[in-house]
Amino acid sequence: MSKNEVITQFFSTHEGLWNNHVELGLWADAMLVAPATATTLAKMANGNADNVLVATYLSARCPVFIAPAMDLDMWTHPATQRNLHFLVTECKNHLIPVGHGELASGLIGDGRLAEPEQIVDYINQYFATNGKLSRQ
Ligand SMILES: Cc1cc2nc3c(=O)[nH]c(=O)nc-3n(C[C@H](O)[C@H](O)[C@H](O)COP(=O)(O)O)c2cc1C
Repeated sequence: MSKNEVITQFFSTHEGLWNNHVELGLWADAMLVAPATATTLAKMANGNADNVLVATYLSARCPVFIAPAMDLDMWTHPATQRNLHFLVTECKNHLIPVGHGELASGLIGDGRLAEPEQIVDYINQYFATNGKLSRQ
């Protein structure tokens, strides 16, 4: 929708080019992982770079924002909470709180992706307070 290229693979399928995750990670002023699934959080917390997203994350020196989205029991599971705690306290990433309400499963609870406006506000607020590139 943004008309920007979306990189999903280490190799571009049409041109056969290598998508350099290290270059991408160093280029970014901010990284937002949204929606951050339970699996992606686990991979990030364990340094499991088996996809271009996590490989880029591990190469990034910019502030990283995480907006999780998952069903309520996945959200409250100790494994998810442990991974998130590590990602925030040890890795100094920024957690954008989940919302409460109806989930894709039909259950009601915590785990909704924050609204896009809230995500943008959170990041704007961060840069208004901290200036640019605080993690470098
Ligand atoms: C219809 C459908 C919806 C799903 N929704 C979520 C979700 O909202 N959050 C989540 O953590 N996993 C969800 N899952 C499970 C993920 O697909 C699975 O954990 C996957 O490994 C996520 O990998 P990814 O982060 O690379 O996309 C869903 C699966 C299906 C089939």
